[in-house]
Amino acid sequence: MNTHLETLLSKIDTRQAKVAVIGLGYVGLPLAVEFAQAGFRTVGLDVDPAKIEAISAGRSYIKDVPAHQTAALVESGKLSATSDYSILRECDSVSICVPTPLSKTHDPDLSYVIAAADAVAQYLHGGMLIVLESTTYPGTTEEIIVPRMFSNGLKIGEDVFVAFSPERIDPGRTDFVLKNTPKVIGGMTPACGEVVSALYNCIVDRVVPVSSTAAAEMVKLLENTFRAVNIALVNEFLVMCDKLSLDAWEIVEATATKPFGFMKFTPGPGVGGHCIPLDPHYLSWKLRTLNYNARFIQLASEINTGMPAYWVSQTVDKLNDIGRAMKGSRILVLGVTYKPDIDDVRESPALDIIQLLEDRGALVTFHDPFVSSLRHEGLETPFTPLTAETLAEADCVLVATNHSSYDWAWIQQYARLIVDTRYALGPTKMAKQAPVRGLVL
Ligand SMILES: NC(=O)c1ccc[n+]([C@@H]2O[C@H](COP(=O)([O-])OP(=O)(O)OC[C@H]3O[C@@H](n4cnc5c(N)ncnc54)[C@H](O)[C@@H]3O)[C@@H](O)[C@H]2O)c1
Repeated sequence: MNTHLETLLSKIDTRQAKVAVIGLGYVGLPLAVEFAQAGFRTVGLDVDPAKIEAISAGRSYIKDVPAHQTAALVESGKLSATSDYSILRECDSVSICVPTPLSKTHDPDLSYVIAAADAVAQYLHGGMLIVLESTTYPGTTEEIIVPRMFSNGLKIGEDVFVAFSPERIDPGRTDFVLKNTPKVIGGMTPACGEVVSALYNCIVDRVVPVSSTAAAEMVKLLENTFRAVNIALVNEFLVMCDKLSLDAWEIVEATATKPFGFMKFTPGPGVGGHCIPLDPHYLSWKLRTLNYNARFIQLASEINTGMPAYWVSQTVDKLNDIGRAMKGSRILVLGVTYKPDIDDVRESPALDIIQLLEDRGALVTFHDPFVSSLRHEGLETPFTPLTAETLAEADCVLVATNHSSYDWAWIQQYARLIVDTRYALGPTKMAKQAPVRGLVL
């Protein structure tokens, strides 16, 4: 039997393996905490000194990671953080969770993955497992990670082990967390698959092996493309229902009573976050290099990115109905994060809505229980407290995100006009029963 493989498997089994996680963001910090919780000495690496300082002081800056858990793990010595990559000399495994954004031209920006892989390569040693977790196009592990892991004559599958395992974390979600969400893994060789499977089996209830790193990369892209396409479908349904004077949400709710063959997605202001608006473009970019046009992805992106403009045009019409022009109207946007009950505004459609409203001369303010200041494209939108007065003062309240702490009946009582992009106020029926003062559209 291969010595490195045998030694690494035994270290994992006895929790003697030292584990590193590169990139302590929404994905990396929960992963590092889970490894530490499972009994591994875990070190988090990040280029952001504020994150290192926070973890070292036992503080958590990610809402889903409780501060007391981080503090206890740091105190027990199971979890630590540093920006010094030389710590990798002592580590047996490293999971890379750095950002994979798009460039301005919607091409993959792999600069963070390359920087992390270069740093790992510098401290690569026999008996090390390297797992890429960042979402990316099929072939990345093989094209970017593998060529950097050949130093000193080390052989993949014998001396070092390389794998891809997509992260499936859904920030803000409590029913499915890292532990009880099956984790897909794909190794470069069967031995790589065996090692990554052994390690991740220590932190999740179920590991799902696939035949290659590219297959594992593609799994993540199918998951997120599936969401992007289905969200686009219901968003287009909303536009079609509007033309037919039908209530799209009523139709979605009724359709969703079918116990088979339908999965419910809800229309809204568009898509946001680090995943759905970006990941499918990684796939379409890859396919373009093979002279194939990924049409569903293209169409879904067009429809979803067009939703902020749709809602702004709805707002123009509704203001017009009450004799007001958009220019000079005071619009209060409620909820600016990309989905409810989280604090993440990355790619949030609310940002596009605000920009379009401001472009048309509206005087926009916002309220969000999780966000106190908002800067987008160099412009700052003023925060306003949520009171009966601020609601009544606004010419229009635009609901961009339906945080669960909002009291919709109370909001409806004081707002003069509400544009509800999230169905937060419930069926049109309910809106019609609203006090005459609160006109809901
Ligand atoms: N956020 C999600 O819900 C989610 C879910 C599944 C998958 N993903 C994917 O996971 C990856 C990470 O996403 P995220 O949301 O955690 O990003 P994030 O921006 O929250 O965190 C990334 C971290 O990496 C750090 N970093 C960047 N370059 C580095 C380097 N060279 N060395 C060390 N640290 C470095 C950054 O400082 C940051 O703290 C992306 O590919 C994303 O698509 C995200």
